[in-house]
Amino acid sequence: SLPIILIVGSLNTDLVTTTPRVPDAGETIQASSFATHFGGKGANQAVACARLSRLKTARGIITAPSTYVRMVGCVGNDDFGNSLRNSLKLDGIDADGVEVIDGVPSGVAVILVESSGENRILITPGANGFCQPSTSYFSPHPALMVLQFEIPLDTVLELLRLASEASPPVVTLLNPAPATRVPNDAYRKISHLILNETEAAILGGGDAIRIESEVTMLEDCRRLSQSFVEKGVTDSIVITLGGKGAFWQDVSSGKIAMVRGEKVEVVDTTAAGDTFVGGFAVKIVSGYSIADAVAYAVLASSKTVSKQGAQSSIPWRDEVS
Ligand code: RIB
Ligand code: NA
Repeated sequence: SLPIILIVGSLNTDLVTTTPRVPDAGETIQASSFATHFGGKGANQAVACARLSRLKTARGIITAPSTYVRMVGCVGNDDFGNSLRNSLKLDGIDADGVEVIDGVPSGVAVILVESSGENRILITPGANGFCQPSTSYFSPHPALMVLQFEIPLDTVLELLRLASEASPPVVTLLNPAPATRVPNDAYRKISHLILNETEAAILGGGDAIRIESEVTMLEDCRRLSQSFVEKGVTDSIVITLGGKGAFWQDVSSGKIAMVRGEKVEVVDTTAAGDTFVGGFAVKIVSGYSIADAVAYAVLASSKTVSKQGAQSSIPWRDEVS
């Protein structure tokens, strides 16, 4: 039977307006374009797991899965919620665990993009704020549970605890985005910690990573990563560095390395981090090493950067080689 990847997380509709500049208070101006995209870090990561372990044929039929992907989360009883749930099913994801909550709106991300490329994002969690922890998510037993921070922090922390107490324990992957500091006792319940340079600095409680030179960047990544190992992360730490690639540490072997980023034309980085997490997850549940999982994740996320939108930009397995 296929390894199950369980994603507990957010589903959002991304409402993206592109404008020459954002209006001042009280001002009305005309924007350049508008688009809606299926998004939310949880749903994006589920889509990345599904697509990166399936083939898409010319007729749009999805075949040959190497994983079974289950999404748990909450949407409102509205059109946005229905569409978000259906879109997951079209990607071959088991969305039976996506609950419909009456009386609250589905999650929305209002994204303003200035022609300079500068983004401003307003997230209304709505139904995502109602996502509860439960051991029922662990039957059937998942090979990996993937979590992010767009559902209540208490839910994430409780799920990490429940996972560590399950028998056998559930292997966990935490992507602490958007960045929120984690209580020290949570770290030993995290198997894989994947975070970008900003999140690493915030969780590490210190200064920003000095990306100016390779030497200082590596030094800072090493120091932060080691601090997460000392706090108890059990399997791996991966710090993603945008176009520069990713740093990783394999906890059991003590190995560390940098994987260089691919040279690509940057169209829209939305969901690049989510694709990274998905690419890493599908390799890990298939028994690949941390090194191989990171190399694949770097490649997969570089595809996402070259396309517009969130889920609309996530590649299938056949597009990543
Ligand atoms: O990681 C990208 C996602 O973050 C977007 O799809 C948006 O919904 C925000 O939550
Ligand atoms: Na994108």
